[in-house]
Amino acid sequence: MTIDIFTGSYIFERKVSVIGLLCVGSENDGDDKRYKFVSRTRSYHGYTIGSLSIGDGSRKSPFKPILLSDEQTPKVTNFYSYRTQKGTEEEYTKELLAELKQCFIDNDPSTICGVIFETVGGSTIGTPTPPKGYLDGHNAFCDKYGALFMLDEFICGMGRCGYPFSFMHPDFSLSNGTGPDICTVGKTIGSGFVTLAGVLISPKIKKAFDEGSGCIMGAQTYHSHDFNCRVGLAVQKKIYDNNLIENWRVVGAYLKEQLQIKLKDNKIVGDISGAGDFLSIEAVKDKATKEHLIQN
Ligand SMILES: Cc1ncc(COP(=O)(O)O)c(C=O)c1O
Repeated sequence: MTIDIFTGSYIFERKVSVIGLLCVGSENDGDDKRYKFVSRTRSYHGYTIGSLSIGDGSRKSPFKPILLSDEQTPKVTNFYSYRTQKGTEEEYTKELLAELKQCFIDNDPSTICGVIFETVGGSTIGTPTPPKGYLDGHNAFCDKYGALFMLDEFICGMGRCGYPFSFMHPDFSLSNGTGPDICTVGKTIGSGFVTLAGVLISPKIKKAFDEGSGCIMGAQTYHSHDFNCRVGLAVQKKIYDNNLIENWRVVGAYLKEQLQIKLKDNKIVGDISGAGDFLSIEAVKDKATKEHLIQN
């Protein structure tokens, strides 16, 4: 089941409202204490009030007085192995999961609606990929505390990381073919020809709506825009007919390998990260100290 709207920021806002409906609205009688969203430092989810609140970084500073409160939007550290991983990948995952657990405890788990993050970061942090076990660990904590597990795949999903969704990437995938409760998608749907984005919901969320009001409240003038949806469908048809997702996987892996080989001795290339053809090169002033080339 999807709801289609135009921009990523707006679709993100819709995701928050869908969760709100589930947690404080009529879909889930009695569980109206859940009003907080856990997200990550250095994340980006768009430029509307809700998406800025849940995101992080200097973009939100001018709007601070009118955003959702910090109490309502607690943050945990983003993964960024190049700069913050000290031990093994497994230890790094454990450290990040311990922080999430503490965040639940410190913020009263019964008040948390959900955990929201980008599977592979994009606009604010380059394209670091999650360490193994990170997605499963988050999913399990959400289950344990009754919160929803939500991924923003607006920039990294729909094939860009070499799989239909980046949470399917075998290096860091959710196990047993599971997916998040809610996932936002965009960019590649319309391939830049039309503005189109969507919220995908899992069978569990659909069931809550089916057993509740059976509808998602709210509509906009250009909601379910026929022309944009048709273009989106045509783009998806091209992608699947021409096996482009596999192509991104194969060509992206080759590109990453070649970048690693060819730029190995380059003085300012600190790190090459990402998956599929969604890749970044991090430039540094000094490879030993990892000092940023440009200070933000
Ligand atoms: C992860 C993520 N979410 C949401 C958005 C917002 O999308 P839009 O610019 O269409 O509002 C972006 C934009 O880059 C994004 O990267």
